[in-house]
Amino acid sequence: MIALNVNDQAVRVDAEAQMPLLWVLRDLLALTGSKYACGIGACGACTVLVDGHPVRSCVFPVSHAVGKRVRTIEGTPDRVLTALRSAWIAEQVPQCGYCQSGMLMAAAGLLEFHPEPIDREIELLMTNLCRCGTYPRVRAAIQRAARELQGDRA
Ligand code: FES
Ligand code: FES
Repeated sequence: MIALNVNDQAVRVDAEAQMPLLWVLRDLLALTGSKYACGIGACGACTVLVDGHPVRSCVFPVSHAVGKRVRTIEGTPDRVLTALRSAWIAEQVPQCGYCQSGMLMAAAGLLEFHPEPIDREIELLMTNLCRCGTYPRVRAAIQRAARELQGDRA
């Protein structure tokens, strides 16, 4: 058994140490908001936060999450994710939606460590793929959320 903290809940799962975190989240904990797409760490659809850092959970062994805080799209949104979700709606970011939970978690990780990102930083750090081409809207939404969060701090 492996003990984890997922969305501020202590859980125990019957999993091999090398099982990808995504498998644990989706198949053992029924948290299906994190999506499976490429399965090789290339697209970011499976992105979750581990101690605030975006990780691609399809290639992240569950044992590496022990003793850390795992946050998924199903977790109670903190102020960063709340601002991002509002900005996502205002900028009408989602199209088919498949990549969007991963995009939001990657964006949350970005703003956690780069609260005032310039466009170039967003381009370099947001490496998630979107078949619907939402990249300009993602960038605009991150900038909108960053402005809102800066306003909160002022
Ligand atoms: S499904 Fe994990 S990076 Fe694509
Ligand atoms: S919104 Fe369709 S893949 Fe990104």
